[in-house]
Amino acid sequence: MNIKTTLLAGAVAFAPVAGFAADLTIGFSQIGSESGWRAAETTVTKQQAEERGIDLKFADAQQKQENQIKAIRSFIAQGVDGILIAPVVATGWDEVLEEAKDADIPVVLMDRTVDAPDDLYLTAVTSDLVHEGNVAGQWLVDEVAGADCRVVELQGTTGSSPAIDRKTGFEQALEGHDNLEIVRSQTGDFTRSQGKVVMESFLKAEGGENICALYAHNDDMAVGAIQAIKEAGLKPGEDIKIVSIDAVPDAHLAIANGEMNATIELTPNMAGPALDAMEAYLADGTMPPKWIQTESKLYTAEDDNKAVYEMKKDLGY
Ligand code: AHR
Repeated sequence: MNIKTTLLAGAVAFAPVAGFAADLTIGFSQIGSESGWRAAETTVTKQQAEERGIDLKFADAQQKQENQIKAIRSFIAQGVDGILIAPVVATGWDEVLEEAKDADIPVVLMDRTVDAPDDLYLTAVTSDLVHEGNVAGQWLVDEVAGADCRVVELQGTTGSSPAIDRKTGFEQALEGHDNLEIVRSQTGDFTRSQGKVVMESFLKAEGGENICALYAHNDDMAVGAIQAIKEAGLKPGEDIKIVSIDAVPDAHLAIANGEMNATIELTPNMAGPALDAMEAYLADGTMPPKWIQTESKLYTAEDDNKAVYEMKKDLGY
């Protein structure tokens, strides 16, 4: 059943016809499958939809914004009840979000934010991406305890909100700590393969013995970099400290094995809160807050990472 909504002017962007949220059809424009975390998010979203009896129309954009925009237009043409978007980059969404709004179709953003007026979407379910970078930076500040440390940084996809915000948060944490210097910073596009390639170039350019720490914007890039560090004859986690973000099973395993030092958890269950908000809104017009924030938890070698690895590895990562 396609529940139509009525657009009201002003601060309330979308107003549903009073009714019920049954037999919903929801379009989901996913970025792709660049990381273990992304694959887990896709799995969880499909599970969440199935459990709720939602007909989920899934579109994999293969990392391209133009594919996401095409998918969203197709969802609008099909008259879906709502749309979930994990936006690959932060800019360039206004036009298609206006089209969804004009069609009275609520949009929920998942895991990344956009630079667009917030009346163009119902809510955004994300972590505090700046805070994640800040926690990573603070961990490193504490870990080196005043010693000089040359840091290399693997950034996420250029123009994506996590790449922008995680960089900002990390740099904020390093402010006033002149012993820590970011000597190289380049995108690894959130992938394992690029993480390895770019880390190889860092090692070659700087000399492995001159790099004290790696900050990667996600675990997949860190895991790729671990391989590069080993191939360079160095010990990841010891010769080069490694902190990254996501807390996927392979990161817990790497920490348990002493090859990585810290990771900050990002839940792959963005769909739970996103669909809760969508269903409530479609049922009776309940307006969610504009930002539904998920938790960020730091894991270090002090945690039982082997146990967490065992627990998480069957979750579809
Ligand atoms: O937007 C969330 C980020 O996107 C995850 O940290 C990363 O693994 C993914 O590709």
